[in-house]
Amino acid sequence: MNENRSSFTGKIGFVLAAAGSAVGLGNIWRFPYLAAKYGGGIFLLVYLVLALTFGFALMITEIAIGRKTGLSAIGAYKKLDKRFSFAGYLAAIVPIIILPYYSVIGGWVTKYLAVFVSGQGKAAADGDYFGDFIGGVGEPIFWYFLFIGVTAIVVLFGVQKGVEKVSKIMMPILVVLTLGISIYTITLPGAWEGVLYYITPNFENFSATTVLAAMGQLFYSMSLSMGIMITYGSYMKKDVSIEKSVKQIEIFDTGIAFFAGLMIVPAVFVFGGGDNMEKNGAGLMFEVLPKIFDTIPGGSVLGGAFFILVLFAALTSSISLMETVVSFLGDKLKIGRKLSCLVVFIFCVLLGLPSSLGFGIWSHIAPLGMSFLNFFDFISNSVLMPIVAFITCIFIGFIIKPKSVIDEVEIGGAFKRKRLFAVMIKYIAPICIILILISSVLDAFGIMKI
Ligand code: PHE
Repeated sequence: MNENRSSFTGKIGFVLAAAGSAVGLGNIWRFPYLAAKYGGGIFLLVYLVLALTFGFALMITEIAIGRKTGLSAIGAYKKLDKRFSFAGYLAAIVPIIILPYYSVIGGWVTKYLAVFVSGQGKAAADGDYFGDFIGGVGEPIFWYFLFIGVTAIVVLFGVQKGVEKVSKIMMPILVVLTLGISIYTITLPGAWEGVLYYITPNFENFSATTVLAAMGQLFYSMSLSMGIMITYGSYMKKDVSIEKSVKQIEIFDTGIAFFAGLMIVPAVFVFGGGDNMEKNGAGLMFEVLPKIFDTIPGGSVLGGAFFILVLFAALTSSISLMETVVSFLGDKLKIGRKLSCLVVFIFCVLLGLPSSLGFGIWSHIAPLGMSFLNFFDFISNSVLMPIVAFITCIFIGFIIKPKSVIDEVEIGGAFKRKRLFAVMIKYIAPICIILILISSVLDAFGIMKI
């Protein structure tokens, strides 16, 4: 972000900027496939409960720390307590891992935009289309380079503001379109069974992995545990209510995810019968949406419109990810912005390659039995982020005490749920995080089946 910390103008400025970072592929690509895979309604329920408790407490904390110190993650932790500056570094590693594979998915979105715009949407509705595409070498890499290239150019020239402006117009349209398509999906024959799967919790599908997946998704979707909200908080004016803002961001972010799920999950039942739901993976949105558009007259145009909106949502997120990494590196290595941008770009290009090739010629290499993309996703969302969140809870709960956050929040207005906040951050969140983290990591390494 810029050197002299400018403030967000007005009350809505902060919410919009934070929502721009929060709403992205996490909501539209990641949430629906996780919901399909991890038991539908039970995943949704766990996610909602976590959003209202963990998510609420953590987002309040990060924004408050940022506003209190006026610094981004590393500086903020250091200023509050030198011994905890490592937490800032740990948080800074997360976007470095996410950005490359996020760009691979961004590349897929760009490709699908091109497909629909060039009138080939019908071909994409074919069952093998997506698999053939990501199984290739040159093509997915081309689109991936394009996506990360555009992101890098925006960050290099510091024209985020322009992109943000456009996306402020695009985002509401995306919401309307997602809503419209989800209503259409549920009217398709056979969709009702899928709707029920998506909204009714089936406790037989409950496991520690469900909770971990929901927790990882929560961090990811709300841009938590990676220092981003701390940075945003540092730009927030003192008279803005943190609690209200968090509420608005949560409603917005969760609302879009919910409707994206409603648009995609029931469609799996319409087109595939809904057997073996746990087999659904990262490709779900790309496999299902073209099929939906194919059943709509003029669906090709609608598909093009949809993918361009998703592309913008993805770009605002990838830009905020890259910006964080670039300014972090620039500060640490004391190199200029241009050089830092170049270094990050090259690094990302290289680290993203395995994620792209992992669905094709490198599919035989499977760290922890996962594809490269899923592996990086697992390390950041299911391992690093919970660790950062755990450290944050301990730090706030026992070192600087919840009161310091509560005081900061109360500067800008009443803090209605401060008791919930204090209990969450001190006891419930850290205990749950650690239990879930241990059991799921053991599970991933095949040591213990849960
Ligand atoms: N929250 C974004 C999404 O849902 C991803 C993201 C994470 C963006 C962290 C920026 C920072 O897609």
